[in-house]
Amino acid sequence: MGIAIHPSILSADFTNLQRDLEAISTADAAHVDVMDNHFVPNLTLGLPIVERIVEVCPVPVDAHLMIADPDRWAPAYAEAGAASVTFHAEAAAAPVRLARELRRLGARAALALRPATPIEPFVDLLPELDMILVMTVEPGFGGQSFIDATLGKIARARAAIDASGLEVRLQIDGGVSRSTIERAAEAGADVFVAGSAVYGADDIAGEIAALRALGAA
Ligand code: DX5
Ligand code: ZN
Repeated sequence: MGIAIHPSILSADFTNLQRDLEAISTADAAHVDVMDNHFVPNLTLGLPIVERIVEVCPVPVDAHLMIADPDRWAPAYAEAGAASVTFHAEAAAAPVRLARELRRLGARAALALRPATPIEPFVDLLPELDMILVMTVEPGFGGQSFIDATLGKIARARAAIDASGLEVRLQIDGGVSRSTIERAAEAGADVFVAGSAVYGADDIAGEIAALRALGAA
């Protein structure tokens, strides 16, 4: 399994969203950040918009839910057709039950960890998951600097996944650019979210290709 590049539409132009989704047709998925102003201090978009994104998006939708009470709200994103639904470990009351529900609804289930949340308590949950997301910035905003202190956790998550023998992807999100992607890949990440680096580029397809080449090296 190769690496994957998931541009984050948080840095897209929300009044030209269809155009900006078509601009990432060479990516592996579109990363859609849902924020509720409770779990994180920012508000983005919700279910009705994600339903429309799924309909028009040229690539699968990777929904990252930075919301309180994902046990209640996340299944609707699977029903809307998101290929993967990521909920936060810090917010979920019953992560195993939620992951099973997401899979039952046809989505890939993913668990996200804020920078200060350790991986170790969740290692035994790997069989219930299709992806782990190690946040490499504090969630809430695009354009922040990559936190190097997360590299050790990426490496420990990689070791746990390899030891499990399971096909669980290891995603990172936040501050990913040409200057940070190589050390994250070296630590073991294989799915890279990039918002400002992709949408801030003059040549979006070229930037996706450049990140893919560096992440795979
Ligand atoms: C931040 C979001 C990220 C954000 C990344 O909380 O989860 O997906 O869009 O943006 P960049 O790549 O600009 O750090
Ligand atoms: Zn995200």
